[in-house]
Amino acid sequence: MELIYTVNPGIEDIAAEEIKAELGGNVEYSRLSGHIYHKLEYNVSWEAIYRLRSINRAFLLMWKGLIGKKHEDLLKLKNEIIEGLKDIHYYVTPYTTFAVDTERVGEHEFTSIDVSRLVGELVIRIVESKTGRKPVVNLRTPNVIVHVFVKDNKIYIGVSLTGPWSMHRRGYRIYDHPAALKPTLAYAMLTISGTRDKDIIVDPMCGGGTIPIEAALIHEDAHIFGYDQNPRHIRGAKMNAYAAGVYKRVFFGVWDATRLNEVIDNVDHIVSNPPYGIRYGDPSSIRKLYNKFLEASYKALREGGHLTIITTEYNYVYKIAKRAGFKIIHERVVYHGSLYPRIMVLEK
Ligand SMILES: C[S@@+](CC[C@H](N)C(=O)[O-])C[C@H]1O[C@@H](n2cnc3c(N)ncnc32)[C@H](O)[C@@H]1O
Repeated sequence: MELIYTVNPGIEDIAAEEIKAELGGNVEYSRLSGHIYHKLEYNVSWEAIYRLRSINRAFLLMWKGLIGKKHEDLLKLKNEIIEGLKDIHYYVTPYTTFAVDTERVGEHEFTSIDVSRLVGELVIRIVESKTGRKPVVNLRTPNVIVHVFVKDNKIYIGVSLTGPWSMHRRGYRIYDHPAALKPTLAYAMLTISGTRDKDIIVDPMCGGGTIPIEAALIHEDAHIFGYDQNPRHIRGAKMNAYAAGVYKRVFFGVWDATRLNEVIDNVDHIVSNPPYGIRYGDPSSIRKLYNKFLEASYKALREGGHLTIITTEYNYVYKIAKRAGFKIIHERVVYHGSLYPRIMVLEK
């Protein structure tokens, strides 16, 4: 069985580790591509795939091949694609709607739309030749997504196993915080920070509670706290935790992150998504917040504890981390909300 997954760009390695640990097999990916290729010697159930916490979508690979950069290179692949997709009528039928969605990385003369159009035409042709009827295209709410990934000279085509919704939509988000973090990134931050059962895990600026909720979904037996200075967000976070079934395992409270050490100490992991300057307005107030937040976090952490943050203010964090007593032990770029923030791990 061969699968492809889409993931949030920047966390391919975390997702690859989770896929290998949960499902076995071999994985291949390149950094920031947002895709993972997975080969198994056996079949896995979609329930097992649904349990993964770091992926957006999973696709059953129907065909993979090589592609050139020119327009005619795409057209030359017609017969190979028809042969590769000869069983597509088991998934796309005259009674299901479908859409082709293409992601392209690298330099090519053709666009993603050219690829989607060609593959869409071929899918219609194959289904009609096998069943006598054409399937219906529905770009907004298709029953089946045919996904094409073109990365430089490689092309992969698969059908979706995870439905039309990305799995980063967990279903527990009743309260939608205006700057909510993707749960897949929250999972990645917790993994990078190295959280374990029994640990004290705190998000002092938790908004709608994404990080504490994901922590509670991974760790049955950790001590998890979520604070925010805005009572409306804390009310929302409690509603989300209730919907996620972890209400009793997370303590939520209204508190100022710059005074975190006054409510808690001996913390193993502070994992947080503080406001970004871009969205905050005045640069001097965001700097003041970051300074005080780092100082309070240092005091609240145990020796060797981690402060793991996602931020666009990484240059400023570089500047102040050492002064606050921290050592930066990990740093990576991820893609989130049309921005390229960094996940940074600071060790006490
Ligand atoms: C980017 S949002 C966090 C979003 C959250 N990760 C989620 O998924 O919903 C940043 C949060 O920090 C909170 N905040 C800002 N300054 C704070 C402070 N001094 N103390 C506590 N919370 C603060 C804001 O109210 C906001 O909810």
